[in-house]
Amino acid sequence: MSKAVAINGSPRMEKGNTAMVLTPFIQGMMDAGSDVELLYANRLKVKPCTCGEMYCWNEMPGECCIKDDMQLLYPKLREADILVLATPVYIPLPGDMQNIINRLCPLLDPFLEFREGRTRARFRKDVGIRKILLVSTGGWWEKENFGTVVRITEELAEDAGVEFAGAVLRPHAFRMREEGELTKEGEAVLNAVRRAGYELVKEGAMTKETLDTISRPLISQEELWRRYNKVL
Ligand SMILES: Cc1cc2nc3c(=O)[nH]c(=O)nc-3n(C[C@H](O)[C@H](O)[C@H](O)COP(=O)(O)O)c2cc1C
Repeated sequence: MSKAVAINGSPRMEKGNTAMVLTPFIQGMMDAGSDVELLYANRLKVKPCTCGEMYCWNEMPGECCIKDDMQLLYPKLREADILVLATPVYIPLPGDMQNIINRLCPLLDPFLEFREGRTRARFRKDVGIRKILLVSTGGWWEKENFGTVVRITEELAEDAGVEFAGAVLRPHAFRMREEGELTKEGEAVLNAVRRAGYELVKEGAMTKETLDTISRPLISQEELWRRYNKVL
């Protein structure tokens, strides 16, 4: 059975737009038979990496010298085969999410090689993760706003020598709700999100059609500007 860890980096946790998208995604994964554990970056007490000497590579390979909640996360990540990073765009990431990403270093084998013109490592042999993917929400209109966050996730997967399994992106995510209620269009988006989670586990990949449905415009760019820039 597939085993996944999903980390939601939104400071708004359960109340946020990211949770609104991540919840049906996890449901879809579970419908397809995956065992998914959800964790909130803000609830975990994870300090920034302060070990410039790369203790986890040089002194004690595979061990992090900082004893905080990351020590609870490492065994879960070793056992998982899918890692879902869920985050709002925060130019580019919320701090707690960035701390967790930095602290993944002990899971990497300290052996560098050249792959497709870049210096890369790999996950250690005891790490089961084979796919890393992104679920992200943003406030602005266009999908290009996710470029940096997508790149960070791709880089992480490439550095770890595993598949970047794609990105579920919901721009102007607030628009899925009107006065706190899910709109019809929002519901259609969330149905597609659930389908994406299902496809990922069942078929091994999310289809372009499903991802495009999730990201499609729910408002014109002019209307979005009117809402943000109340002076217009
Ligand atoms: C500090 C900060 C920076 C943000 N930067 C961007 C941005 O660059 N692009 C974007 O589309 N949205 C940006 N947003 C909007 C959030 O990404 C968006 O509202 C998101 O859906 C919030 O998710 P959450 O409710 O799960 O926290 C930013 C929000 C904050 C608080």
